[in-house]
Amino acid sequence: MRILFVCLGNICRSPTAEGVFRAISARELPELTLTVDSAGTAGYHVGEPPDRRTREAAARRGYDLSSLRARVVEPRDFETFDLILAMDRQNLRTLERRAPTAAQDRLGLFLEYAPEVGTREVPDPYYGGGNGFEYVLDLIEAASRGLCEALRAGAVRPPARIPRAG
Ligand code: 4NP
Repeated sequence: MRILFVCLGNICRSPTAEGVFRAISARELPELTLTVDSAGTAGYHVGEPPDRRTREAAARRGYDLSSLRARVVEPRDFETFDLILAMDRQNLRTLERRAPTAAQDRLGLFLEYAPEVGTREVPDPYYGGGNGFEYVLDLIEAASRGLCEALRAGAVRPPARIPRAG
């Protein structure tokens, strides 16, 4: 199972999702082989590590994001990943526009796996205050636990492979 988390810049929300889900799934689903990655729909920060505020907030909860580097969603991601989970509706719409028809059913919102949190979107913390980064972590930890439960229950299945063009 290959899972890609997507936000706008790939320096706040989606690298947090990558690091947190990797840690929680390794603990809760050690028997599953998961490939976990993240990317942005915009390229403003390509090659950069996660935002310092993101790294510090994650480190306070025991997640080390320092080795991650921002990249942009590429066309081949729609073939490589079984599940492509956006942090908000704006980025989900961008993915829906860019993805081929055969990959549309791989796209979704990460917070669909955390119905109890009362929102479907992880808000962008980039221009906000310090509390935003803690809230992002709260939401992402909840959705990571929910996604692990769904995977354990067999409720998430890899779709049939998309045949390569050409
Ligand atoms: P992210 O946050 O999408 O969670 O990585 C952002 C980071 C940078 C920008 C916007 C959002 N920016 O406009 O540079």
